[in-house]
Amino acid sequence: MKKISINGIKASKNYKVLSMITAYDYLFAKLFDGIVDIVLVGDSLNMSCNGKADTLSASLEVMIYHSKAVAKGAENSFIVCDMPFGTYTNREEALKNSIRVYQETGVDAVKIEGGESRADIIRYLTQNSIAVMGHIGLMPQFVRSEGGYKVKGKTEQEREQLIKDAIAVEEAGAFAIVVEGVKSDIAKAIAQSVKIPIIGIGAGNEVDGQVLVWSDMLGFFEDFKPKFVREYLNGAELVKESVKKFVTDVENRDFPSEKESY
Ligand code: KIV
Repeated sequence: MKKISINGIKASKNYKVLSMITAYDYLFAKLFDGIVDIVLVGDSLNMSCNGKADTLSASLEVMIYHSKAVAKGAENSFIVCDMPFGTYTNREEALKNSIRVYQETGVDAVKIEGGESRADIIRYLTQNSIAVMGHIGLMPQFVRSEGGYKVKGKTEQEREQLIKDAIAVEEAGAFAIVVEGVKSDIAKAIAQSVKIPIIGIGAGNEVDGQVLVWSDMLGFFEDFKPKFVREYLNGAELVKESVKKFVTDVENRDFPSEKESY
């Protein structure tokens, strides 16, 4: 599959449903490359790779380290790097850190969590040639200030705010928006309110694309399983079975064979 461009992503609205999956390293980025449209170096790596309780301690250095590896593996995919918590609290800081991400990793875009209240920062980045993917709805970087992961769009006020957020992020120049953890009907209304693609996660099926965290969708992450995840592989079981088989072979001196020896 040919690498999709930013214009291709924008033009996909009402024409092609976008697929996005996270990757955190060269190995898996290479496996996903050319199959999905977009690879996201999500700060969810803080949980999936590092066993942390939330994304908040992922540093810019860590995101740059992983993005470099992913960019090497996924040469035929559009790559987005999550700007980690605390790296875009004001316009100048956001620009300085996004430029670092661009220059040091080779990714195609950055992702920023926040709606109307962050539109100013997104506008400043897009005006300075940084491609920005928005992220509204349930925003994992707000987990501590909001007291947990809360599905959004349950009240009229929240629904109105979600639409305002999407429009503000679009007007600020974002090329697509992740909408996470919202009631399906409001996700549909958000998708109908803007011209850029809405990529959903836990947002139902009437949006313009879907994203999943790779270790969830391939069944490697056993700590918890969100309702919206579909497991396409039982990765954890396959790995454990294979490792047990290796141990048995080693203990029984079945490995290595003559063919596997010099
Ligand atoms: O960090 C991440 O993996 C994300 C996705 C859940 C969209 O932001």
